[in-house]
Amino acid sequence: PRSIWLSRHGESEYNLEGKIGGDANLSPRGFQYAKMLPKLLRKSGLPKDAPLTIWTSTLKRTNQTAGHVVEELGWEKLQWKALDELDSGNCDGLTYAQIAEMFPEDFKARDDDKYNYRYRGGESYRDVVIRLEPIIMELERSENILIITHQAIVRCIFAYFMQVDQSQSPWMEVPLHTLMKLTPKAYGTQVEKYKANI
Ligand code: G3H
Repeated sequence: PRSIWLSRHGESEYNLEGKIGGDANLSPRGFQYAKMLPKLLRKSGLPKDAPLTIWTSTLKRTNQTAGHVVEELGWEKLQWKALDELDSGNCDGLTYAQIAEMFPEDFKARDDDKYNYRYRGGESYRDVVIRLEPIIMELERSENILIITHQAIVRCIFAYFMQVDQSQSPWMEVPLHTLMKLTPKAYGTQVEKYKANI
């Protein structure tokens, strides 16, 4: 049976500073996660027959997270713009505290309706769900795939496979440095989680 491995990128410099968006490099801890990822994948049980393909976003932090998997396991890597993080528009590069101070109405509007709230010049979760449609279609007809992407995107892909209403996805917990293995079964999707000790 095929599986989908799903992970956020390792901790980034922006994560450390509490900033959203951007195209930062991984932090030292994030690079440690990248280094551990081949081992975590093996622990999760890899398919013996079919090779895995890695899908990342076009941003540095997901590609850096995939680095050791590509090197050590030799899997093919594909970058998708559709896997980029939710575009936070005019709030890109800010912390939540700065957003609350500079754009208090927007901050409140987002809290009131996080699924539909669209950042000025950016996206809403609803927009993300729509741009993920080609990814989901491709996933449905693919064999084993490892997806390394971003928090908002992991939430929407996870909600799809768990058959959770997408309006719930903006609030789902997706911890850093945790590899998820999703295996679709007749009765639903089996979820296994592998947390890196770093
Ligand atoms: O930068 C975007 C975050 O990964 C999404 O977090 O939608 O909870 O603000 P949020």
